[in-house]
Amino acid sequence: MYDFDNTANRRNTYSLKWDVKENELPMWVADMDFRCAPEIFEAINERLSIGALGYSNTPNSYFEAYKAFWERRHNVSYNIEDMVFSTGVVPSLSSAVRALTNIGDGVIILTPVYNIFFNSIRNNKRNIIECPLIYNSNGTYDIDFEAFELVAQDKNNTMLIFCNPGNPTGRIWTKDELIRIGDICKKNNITVVSDEIHCDIIKEGEEYIPFYSVNDVCKDISLTLISATKCFNMAGIQASLALSSNKEILRRFNRQLNTDECAEGNFICYGATIAALNKGEAWLNEMNKYVDNNFKLLEEFLKDYPELVLTKRSATYLAWLNISKITNESEEFTKFLRDKTGLFITEGDEYGKSGKGFVRINLATSKANILDGLNRFKIGVKLWKSR
Ligand SMILES: Cc1ncc(COP(=O)(O)O)c(C=O)c1O
Repeated sequence: MYDFDNTANRRNTYSLKWDVKENELPMWVADMDFRCAPEIFEAINERLSIGALGYSNTPNSYFEAYKAFWERRHNVSYNIEDMVFSTGVVPSLSSAVRALTNIGDGVIILTPVYNIFFNSIRNNKRNIIECPLIYNSNGTYDIDFEAFELVAQDKNNTMLIFCNPGNPTGRIWTKDELIRIGDICKKNNITVVSDEIHCDIIKEGEEYIPFYSVNDVCKDISLTLISATKCFNMAGIQASLALSSNKEILRRFNRQLNTDECAEGNFICYGATIAALNKGEAWLNEMNKYVDNNFKLLEEFLKDYPELVLTKRSATYLAWLNISKITNESEEFTKFLRDKTGLFITEGDEYGKSGKGFVRINLATSKANILDGLNRFKIGVKLWKSR
């Protein structure tokens, strides 16, 4: 049994999330408040006890731990020769865009989606091709395959950056959907970069399907980006894995990653990742149950707000809430909420135009913080309505 009620106090520790005013409650960036699995800290402390902090090599056991974990948990077998280390999924996204597309190309994203996808495309002078998901009034999302096929057919568009499972939608894509994406992309020479960093934060009874595992087409056209950091709450160690069984994709990506100097890890990250993957599954399973319970608290709370629609969530600890019946101005609303109540959540517009009228709330925190957050939200909505 791990203690998820007793979260780490990260105020005044240069924490991106918790470097906020004393009265503020941050429930924004995708960073959990839970203490990491003790097994991870044992590995880190063992490293530290050496008493020196020099350069490191990436050990083979890093790749072996990923391979074994994905075989055990997701029934997919990756070849170690198909894997490379990277200092993060975000660095990999940028390197992939640079390596596998040309300046001026279009890169497709299915929005709403992780805001940094936009940066990785824009910062590299490629064009963002937003293909919005279909939003159904019951709070579910589907891929607009007709629209997707049209943008895929445009010869200027050469890559899809795909989020599997989706952040912020919490959507797990079905095998049929993945097959369709693979077929459309193969037919139109689109490389798929599949960001699967959220793949082990899964609601009970749901199952994520790695894009790579679906069939030979998907395997051949894709670069998969994964990392233990998101699901084991150690984003600060900055380590990830990229893999492709397409030798040319992997070669070009790896060359670029080296040019970008993102191909080598630090002293801490290898041991921590290996410990998480080899010894952390009990923690991971309990964490998922805890997050499921937090969602139940939110659902209970929302019974008093029939005008707010919570998106059906299969994965991630992120609640994606449709507030458009109260306001479409999510940016203004979240600023107001922060100002009046100290609750710090994210405006949906960050994730693309179709995120307008939504907010994203991070529920990977203690039950006490959830209850505090919901209370602040209640006060904020009341003040907003009466302003
Ligand atoms: C979809 C997605 N990809 C990547 C990242 C960050 O990856 P990294 O910390 O490995 O750069 C996040 C963090 O929130 C994310 O949500």
